[in-house]
Amino acid sequence: MRYNKTLLLLLACSMSLFAQKAKDNTKRDQFISGLMAKMTIDEKIAQTVQYTADGTVTGPKTGINYIDEIKRGNVGSILNATGVKYTRELQKLNLDNSRLKIPLIFGHDVIHGFRTIFPITLGEAASWDLSAVELSARVAAREAAAAGVHWTFAPMVDISRDPRWGRVSEGSGEDTYLGSKMAFARVRGFQGHDLMSTDVILACTKHFAAYGAAEAGRDYNTVDMSERVLRETYLPPFKATVDAGVGSFMTSFNEIAGVPATASKFLLRDILKKEWGFKGFVVTDYTAINELIPHGVARDSAHAGELAMVAGVDMEMVGGIYMKNLKKLLAEKRVTEAQINDACRRVLEAKYDLGLFTDPYRQSSEQREKAELTKKENLDAALMVANKSMVLLKNSNNVLPLRKEQKVAFVGPLVSDEHNIIGSWAATGDRSGFAVSVQEGVNKIVTDKNKVTFDKGVEIVDSRRDMMQAALNNARKADVIVAVMGEFENMTGEAASRTNIDLPGIQKEFLAELKKLGKPVVLVLMNGRPLTLTWENDNMDAILEAWYPGTMGGDAIAQTLYGINNPSGKLPMTFPRNIGQIPLYYNHKNTGRPYLGPSDPEQKYKSRYIDVDNSPLYPFGYGLSYSTFSYSNLKLSSAKMQMNGKLKVSVDVTNTGNYDGEEVIQLYVRDVVGSVTRPVKELKGFKKLLIKKGQKQTVDFELTTEDLKFYNIDMKFVAEPGDFEVFVGGSSDAILKDKFELVK
Ligand code: GLC
Repeated sequence: MRYNKTLLLLLACSMSLFAQKAKDNTKRDQFISGLMAKMTIDEKIAQTVQYTADGTVTGPKTGINYIDEIKRGNVGSILNATGVKYTRELQKLNLDNSRLKIPLIFGHDVIHGFRTIFPITLGEAASWDLSAVELSARVAAREAAAAGVHWTFAPMVDISRDPRWGRVSEGSGEDTYLGSKMAFARVRGFQGHDLMSTDVILACTKHFAAYGAAEAGRDYNTVDMSERVLRETYLPPFKATVDAGVGSFMTSFNEIAGVPATASKFLLRDILKKEWGFKGFVVTDYTAINELIPHGVARDSAHAGELAMVAGVDMEMVGGIYMKNLKKLLAEKRVTEAQINDACRRVLEAKYDLGLFTDPYRQSSEQREKAELTKKENLDAALMVANKSMVLLKNSNNVLPLRKEQKVAFVGPLVSDEHNIIGSWAATGDRSGFAVSVQEGVNKIVTDKNKVTFDKGVEIVDSRRDMMQAALNNARKADVIVAVMGEFENMTGEAASRTNIDLPGIQKEFLAELKKLGKPVVLVLMNGRPLTLTWENDNMDAILEAWYPGTMGGDAIAQTLYGINNPSGKLPMTFPRNIGQIPLYYNHKNTGRPYLGPSDPEQKYKSRYIDVDNSPLYPFGYGLSYSTFSYSNLKLSSAKMQMNGKLKVSVDVTNTGNYDGEEVIQLYVRDVVGSVTRPVKELKGFKKLLIKKGQKQTVDFELTTEDLKFYNIDMKFVAEPGDFEVFVGGSSDAILKDKFELVK
């Protein structure tokens, strides 16, 4: 009886919330219909126009004077304007020149923090901690909103299996399931529960779609794939953000199978707006409409504008084509008034939902801005997330954690860096010294200055050797050497693809010199992509992947090195043995001649290389801890799952080490036989748990038929009866397995 009462109460609450939402939408619809009834076609077209201000440069120059355009009432949105003073000035200029007082919406790339910078999103994904990732977006939104920003061009949800591509740094790695969970969490973090709240911002899912599959990892390059791969691998993280209520989408630069995304009716109208029921608005990427001409699908600007509007683009970023051409295209009946009205309405709805018609300044003030940006609570959050993103790749003879009484020589081009440490796409992050360097972080822990030395030794890229000897001299006197190395932050991110993903410059040469000293060498990496580290793995005693850990990165690295933080991160992306293996990812197909490794009785006629093993250097989901964890007692609730039924999976995990530690328990499933080929395994669940030393925890998962669905031979999204295997462990090369049968 009590149970029913609770259920009824819950039902009543959700119905009233739903009714309230419906009522609010009616109120909004009435307001916007009333407004649009008064708008001229020029004023409607203005809502589809976005220009860039003088802030961060994030694309080619266009020569358009955004101030003049605002004065002419020709602008609906401005990107790259931040700060209360600047945004208030521009908003006032706009309102003074807007007949109907329609506010601007200010957009900016708030990707992994606004002024307090968190680890790059690939690093955040390595935390496998959804609440930490949501918190990161929450803090970023609070700071950005306080600084007059209304809308972020994030989350970037592009799946990528190619570390040559610089933008893997902005995503969540190679896996669809992990990427979908991260995408959902970030939208919830940015948008909160109510867009009217002045400490949240509108999110924007990008880049729609499959931008991460650029051929050869070269940015903006061609993408071509089957609809099955598009729908199974690349689209789910986008759909997850629609489920999370994301307010906007951004089209990608690339073509897919011959159609540029910005001109793709299939993507924008058929899938996004119709199949998924997306009610927000679609903005292009930077000058992406103009680029339909070099893509070779548009004769001229007018034709490019026509293709984009017909395809379902609601707002143009920067290019100036909509403003110059839409009215003429309407007169020539190449676009319809309904299309322009729909685009305008979607933009106005977002502005309404953000409360911009009530308060175009969203209570932004210099006092609030000063109080919010980099406040202690935000910095503490950034440190927590950075600590959780650290991935320990190697730790021979437990050389880590370090002890304060040891004499440690810290060397490397990034050992005192405060610029690159916050990574690319760092919004208004302070690169002038505000971030905590490794040296500063270490000095907070080791107060005896005789115990530590700090020398660059070499640069990141250039091959000057004049600093090396001094560094070697100090290293010679140390018990342990710690080398902090990696990439320049601008070697990752947009327009930063590399054909060689080794440690750049002469960093490896310096490591070889350090190794000759016969002392333990610990390599700490700051990088925005998987690197090829085979030599380092063979020759270094320990390797810590720190990504670009953000404003508090030096503290996180130091706390991890000295054991204050026990590393718990797991790789969101495979690290190959060499670049020739790329693309290399865990959820690959088996092929008809799978190579079983050195024990395979057939060593020649198999799908393999003659010079390198097929296996990665470090697999997806891999990461060590100062603890050790053992997995046992894998149990399934049944050997059979009924179609539309469920199956419980449980496993015991024991912390067999000497440290309390967090472990990411991962659940993988293999569909052994399908009407089409299926991956050798797919991530279908994970839990990150703190397990105290010596303790054992039983971890439960639930599998449903939904988890087993795929696009079958007829492109129907179904689960097929048959045998399935289940793998559980702390990495994708988990070996603890069991099986079950899905029955009709
Ligand atoms: C850039 C990026 C996109 C970003 C936009 C605005 O070209 O591709 O991710 O949001 O322009 O800066």
